[in-house]
Amino acid sequence: MSRSDSIGAQHMTAGRMTVRRIQFRFPDRLGGIWNTARPQFSHIVNSGSLAMPYLEPYLIETMRQARAKTADPALIAEIDLYVGQEAAHFRQHQQFNRRLADLGYESVPKMEAVLKADYQSFARHRSFTFNLAYAEGFEAMALAIGHMLVEDRAYLFGDGEPTVSSLILWHFVEEIEHKCATYDVFKALDGRYLWRIYGLLFATVHIMARARQGYRALLIEDGLWSNWRSRLALYRLLLRIFGRLTPRLLRILKPGYDPRSVPDPAWAISWWQQYAHGAKDLSELDMTKIGEPAPVARTTEGAFQ
Ligand SMILES: [Fe+2]
Ligand SMILES: [Fe+2]
Repeated sequence: MSRSDSIGAQHMTAGRMTVRRIQFRFPDRLGGIWNTARPQFSHIVNSGSLAMPYLEPYLIETMRQARAKTADPALIAEIDLYVGQEAAHFRQHQQFNRRLADLGYESVPKMEAVLKADYQSFARHRSFTFNLAYAEGFEAMALAIGHMLVEDRAYLFGDGEPTVSSLILWHFVEEIEHKCATYDVFKALDGRYLWRIYGLLFATVHIMARARQGYRALLIEDGLWSNWRSRLALYRLLLRIFGRLTPRLLRILKPGYDPRSVPDPAWAISWWQQYAHGAKDLSELDMTKIGEPAPVARTTEGAFQ
């Protein structure tokens, strides 16, 4: 791709990205197992959510440092939109995580302390190159996770509490939307293949190890770790998730990997279009219709079809 093509593509990406301030109002009755048909998935998601108020500010700080190192207006615009989206994500996760803490899970503050220490340490003691590679590695993995979640949404969220499910799906349609941001920054400021792969492997192993530590602790608190039926359900779920995730992670290893070559899922495109046309209540999707080709909000069913 020539430099002019590359800048054109960056404009396209920056042009389509939007910072959306969506408020998710969790019901009073909300429990830690917000999908009673899939308690193990509930705690995998809860564990991932605990990382967001530490991980995403760390990504933002890395991208702010990157912003100071470039004069490319297209790249600066892309960074600003990326930062806006990530800031909105972690604020909503903070609210959700407070609800989990209020339910009395002791592992919530414990995991928060571990995650805070991890990301403070990376920010303070690792090089800018490492932090940039971590950011790109994490975002490449988040794109793969976003595709997996959208593809398997009926199975994973079909029986879920609508607000939590809608929070996660909002977050990941935006992860899909800003798929090029850290890649473009990494390419512009560094671009070394081995650093990109090291960042991917480090970020993937780190976040998955912390996620496992978190969901294990949460499942123990709910008496679902030693229970063999629950453990079997967990392993079956992990097989299903990694069956869909692994081919998507492997393609990132190719030297010529470019997130632009990963087509966006139709459901995510439809989500963006509905928001652009004024759908206000994507914070509460109709979970009975989550498997349909386009998102259906609970209160404006069919209005944007
Ligand atoms: Fe995010
Ligand atoms: Fe992201």
